[in-house]
Amino acid sequence: MTSPFYLDCDTGIDDALALAYLLASPQADVRGIGAVSGNVSAAVGARNTLDLLELAGHAHIPVALGAHDPLSGSFGGGAPHVHGSNGIGEVTLTTAEAHLASETAPEMLVRLAHEYPGTLRVLAIGPLTNIAEALRLDPELPGLVEEITIMGGAALAPGNITRVAEANIANDPEAAALVLAADWNVTLVPLDVTMANVLEESHRQELLASSLPVPKALGEMLGYYFRFYEGIYGRACSAMHDPLAAALAVGAVTAAVAPVVHVEVDTTSGPGRGQTICELRGLYMDYPEQLGARCRVVLSLEDDFAPHLVETLLAFGVSEAIPAAPVLLSQPN
Ligand code: BDR
Ligand code: CA
Repeated sequence: MTSPFYLDCDTGIDDALALAYLLASPQADVRGIGAVSGNVSAAVGARNTLDLLELAGHAHIPVALGAHDPLSGSFGGGAPHVHGSNGIGEVTLTTAEAHLASETAPEMLVRLAHEYPGTLRVLAIGPLTNIAEALRLDPELPGLVEEITIMGGAALAPGNITRVAEANIANDPEAAALVLAADWNVTLVPLDVTMANVLEESHRQELLASSLPVPKALGEMLGYYFRFYEGIYGRACSAMHDPLAAALAVGAVTAAVAPVVHVEVDTTSGPGRGQTICELRGLYMDYPEQLGARCRVVLSLEDDFAPHLVETLLAFGVSEAIPAAPVLLSQPN
């Protein structure tokens, strides 16, 4: 079954993988994409998204600009040490001709929810500012969305921005608190599972060896990402945050442990700011039901994710006869 999707992202190398994965998935029909500041500014993320869509032969999908600043404070400049100064590992893509949508990202989400009531799926793989703004625009939104899948947070794992906070939540804790308190079906894909599923250099080489433009470009971008993660894992490889959230959102991979629990976001200004405090004290009794809880927190998967991801990306465009687009790939030495 194919579901309509709204994607909210801060494109970003792993966001680029998630976008490609979603476009390649028969279960997803991407109806609109919103950009938010995170890895890069919302404007740069939107540019990257337009260029990737062009490369992928999906330039018809509308891209809307979203929030530059978080609900409280201002954009901190992104993560060039992780994603490169342009967000896509210093790879240069042909500039797309398509322009940004005339609506904002929160407006786009609200419009799509009304166009596809009860069936729209939301995948949020950046800070949650646009989603929180959409909730403010239309408080009925949760009742219209079938499910929202969020890459973010750390349940039992350490954070990646502070000892306890993960980047997407840390970049806008107030927005995350609003979104996680809303009355909808939420699947949270935290660092616990995304750090445990790793893409290896052999997988990157498979992507690089492809004659198709999208997997090849992703392989190039991953070179930069791998260099950052070498400092964390001790070898050339990377976590797969956003594509894993995409795969869970389309239902292509199965969670092994994913209790439905209460989750609260720390919005204080102390050392816990941005922490996703998950009620996991049921661990020793196989997580008994928590009354009123609606956040499914994915802690582990049934199967290793990397082979499925690589297989899906390598098949990208094979059946869609994408012309060999004029793509300019360049990387620093
Ligand atoms: C998340 O933060 C961003 O840097 C990645 O794109 C991902 O969405 C991981 O913490
Ligand atoms: Ca992201």
